[in-house]
Amino acid sequence: MNIGILTGGGDCPGLNAAIRSVYYRAKEYGYKTIGIFHGWKGMLNEGRSEKITEEKVENIFDLGGTFLGSSRTNPYKTPEGPKEVLKKFKEYKLDALIAIGGEDTLGVAGKLYNDFKLPVVGIPKTIDHDVMGTEYTIGFDSALNTGAEAIDRLHTTAKSHEQSFIVEVMGRHAGWLTLRAGIAGGAHIILIPEKPYDIRKVFETINKRKKEGKHTLLAVSEGVEPPKQLQEKKDDFGHVILTNRGLAYAFKEVIDKECKTEVRVMVLGHMLRGGKPTAYDRVMASRVGSIAVDFLKEKKFGMLTAVQGGEITPFPLTEVIGKYKTVSDQEYRLLQSLFEGDVL
Ligand code: F6P
Repeated sequence: MNIGILTGGGDCPGLNAAIRSVYYRAKEYGYKTIGIFHGWKGMLNEGRSEKITEEKVENIFDLGGTFLGSSRTNPYKTPEGPKEVLKKFKEYKLDALIAIGGEDTLGVAGKLYNDFKLPVVGIPKTIDHDVMGTEYTIGFDSALNTGAEAIDRLHTTAKSHEQSFIVEVMGRHAGWLTLRAGIAGGAHIILIPEKPYDIRKVFETINKRKKEGKHTLLAVSEGVEPPKQLQEKKDDFGHVILTNRGLAYAFKEVIDKECKTEVRVMVLGHMLRGGKPTAYDRVMASRVGSIAVDFLKEKKFGMLTAVQGGEITPFPLTEVIGKYKTVSDQEYRLLQSLFEGDVL
């Protein structure tokens, strides 16, 4: 069997460990692994592939990013796209395909399985941790450790200068990374997209802490609604004008004004996706990589290598499409007493 493998969407630590694991499991069964470059783009007309050899993967378990490259290409964007994928599948002489990605990349895999019965298996990956049906996504643990350390480090300078900070954390649809990094890094207020907030309570918390001579670290997820004060400022198309720098700066604008103090901004951004994978990500990415090959061997096509209750189990890719796993109310409530942010 020839197995194609691609990585799509935002890169993250742990992808190379997964590719390596796919290669070794496939080798064990006498299968070949073909690397497809730059996600679904590699399965379109201009795409490129290359046979994966042991020399290429043996020492990459600790390397961040993905040596196959990535893209946010969606073959369903044009009517010809899906047909081009089928053509490439034949041209590369593939028998099966492994797609590693988040909702976008996995959603394409689910549609290709649905529409054409393409023999595909998906592996969940995203620092946002928001893929449906799985407790594990490659990269989340590494990004969480990076985010927690960043917030942790800000404490010393914030404390020394009695200076408050807004830390913006990635996560468009779900606040997992902000909530957990905020808890682990000791943020005082945590705002996530799942929970509406009352900005006046944010002001009160900052003011109260300031009076007590304490700094405030406000962790805010990039997917949070901007403060109401700014939502009133709209452009000709009705889009909220956030200031030209982004969400954290929008919060700064209102906090500086209302709290009569100057808060500083730290946007963690793509730094969260960089660096080496944690040991946990290396091990888990290796486990899901290996079992993806087993799924193909057992003809469990159209499935995600989902982790549920600590075990890896097949979960239909079609159930991943267009859905996001958001922070549970239970997790939020259990952790809520740890940050001052009763800002709902
Ligand atoms: O891969 C997930 C993610 O990092 C999100 O947290 C973030 O919203 C998005 O990707 C950023 O994407 P891009 O790098 O394409 O701007």
